Amino acid sequence: MKIGIIGAGNVGTGLTKLLLPRGHGLMLSFHKEGEKLRSTAAALGTRAGTVAEAVQFGDVVVLATPWVATAEALGQVGQVPKQKILWDCTNTLKPDMSGLSIGTTTSGGEEVAKLAPWARVVKAIPPFAEAMRNRSEVGRERSDLLSLSRIFT
Ligand SMILES: NC(=O)c1ccc[n+]([C@@H]2O[C@H](COP(=O)([O-])OP(=O)(O)OC[C@H]3O[C@@H](n4cnc5c(N)ncnc54)[C@H](OP(=O)(O)O)[C@@H]3O)[C@@H](O)[C@H]2O)c1
Repeated sequence: MKIGIIGAGNVGTGLTKLLLPRGHGLMLSFHKEGEKLRSTAAALGTRAGTVAEAVQFGDVVVLATPWVATAEALGQVGQVPKQKILWDCTNTLKPDMSGLSIGTTTSGGEEVAKLAPWARVVKAIPPFAEAMRNRSEVGRERSDLLSLSRIFT
């Protein structure tokens, strides 16, 4: 399966490390620095692109951005000719982790769905990036991430 990833930080690169060895095609996007994005992707053995390119590339798109940068990232998608599945990994945390950025009248998933009318949004928060880095721990715990990543196998 082709998977486009928006956000090349802990979650985006952690999922890349899990999914690439299973034979999926991946494209990472959305770094503050283009050169860092290219070197991160090259070190992982995968492609780098713009957000629009990653969405065009993916049969499934993973959203792994800090909440504060989510609207900016989804604003870079452009025209998407056919509906895609968007796996939304975001938490609506404030940058200082002091609480949530949105209140109780809406949710992160609903807000992402408004920002991504081209997508069918699936909200699924993976475990901490540290658990993704330690594959044996993920396997032992049979976490939600493992269940979700099995969708792609
Ligand atoms: N970390 C976890 O264990 C974990 C677990 C479950 C869910 N989540 C959620 O998953 C999402 C991603 O978390 P993460 O830990 O992967 O985040 P992260 O490591 O901070 O990665 C964020 C990515 O977005 C990029 N980015 C581009 N423009 C940005 C901007 N204006 N401001 C901030 N970042 C920008 C960053 O680029 P640069 O590298 O150039 O900064 C980086 O590639 C968050 O919503 C988080 O709450 C995280």
